Amino acid sequence: MKLSVCVLPGDGIGPEITAVAEKVLQAVAARFGHTVELAHGLIGGAAIDATGTPLPEATVAACRQSGAVLLGAVGGPKWDDLEPALRPEKGLLGIRKALGLFANLRPATLFPELAAASLLRPDIAAAGVDVLVVRELTGGLYFGEPRGETVVDGERAAFNTMIYREKEIARILHVAFAAARQRRKQVCSVDKANVLEVSRLWREVATRVALEYPDVELTHMYVDNAAMQLVRAPHLFDVLVTENLFGDILSDEAAAITGSLGMLPSASLGASSPGLFEPIHGSAPDIAGQDVANPLATVLSVAMLLRHGFGLEAEAAAVERAVRIALRQGLRTRDIATEGSTVVGCTAMGEAVVAALAAC
Ligand code: IPM
Ligand code: MG
Repeated sequence: MKLSVCVLPGDGIGPEITAVAEKVLQAVAARFGHTVELAHGLIGGAAIDATGTPLPEATVAACRQSGAVLLGAVGGPKWDDLEPALRPEKGLLGIRKALGLFANLRPATLFPELAAASLLRPDIAAAGVDVLVVRELTGGLYFGEPRGETVVDGERAAFNTMIYREKEIARILHVAFAAARQRRKQVCSVDKANVLEVSRLWREVATRVALEYPDVELTHMYVDNAAMQLVRAPHLFDVLVTENLFGDILSDEAAAITGSLGMLPSASLGASSPGLFEPIHGSAPDIAGQDVANPLATVLSVAMLLRHGFGLEAEAAAVERAVRIALRQGLRTRDIATEGSTVVGCTAMGEAVVAALAAC
């Protein structure tokens, strides 16, 4: 099979981690008899510097022509003072919108090898964490109109709109239910229905969609309670589905409690366009260019790319196994290092995964 992938390295540690991920992709492709066709595009600050805009048309076109997109990270202090429409983050939001990537899958799992790095109390960590956050990605407050700045009684004021259509809610709920069927068959829909009209509609639609999945259990939870339960009893969650901003916040929380933000991948999927795969963490400008970044979240994003982008389950599982082997060898990048581990850099960690792949 020909795997055509458009790589968008972006900013900060983006270029280092995507370089490692490319090598892993080449290695797994070679091992399973596939060919890789890579294209590269500019996004974020790198695109601003080169072209004056965070998402050049050429990048969107290159993504559209590919079978899947692999992204590093965007943003950094260098571009912090730009107006919102020109900031690196607009590149990321723009590509999600342009490709119609409404479903963001963010699995947060506690790797047994890294249990010592978890921020949870040991007895809570012992119960395990295996949550799939399904975040709506192209609606809600992020994109709702009207938005902007105005003047109220002579004073500046700003506003955004949280709006969802029934169809937008239904399609993300379908993604959550379908995912739950492959897992522990539980969906927790998170909203703020005690306050927000948009959440009341969300809850109604969720309940309606659930009728099509009688084998899956649906519960509803207010977002503030969900934030609390995620640290109090994370093992209670299987699939957590929610709107864009709530999902942004809760997915960082879910990731952080595993103690290994540098390990967690994500997939953003649309109805038909190529999916986009990226680590959950950001561009970490403070450690960029030092070869100390953890490439494993991006490597595991390659696994998601193989699984969801190309339907290659065995290949995806091989990458995941190779990562576990590297960890079992005691290799750790600085962010996940604990007593007794061997601290390696970004490139060396990538080489270890590539070497491990031979046996997977
Ligand atoms: C994320 C990030 C982005 C978001 C930013 C960089 C625009 O926080 O992917 O979670 O808010 O969606
Ligand atoms: Mg975020």
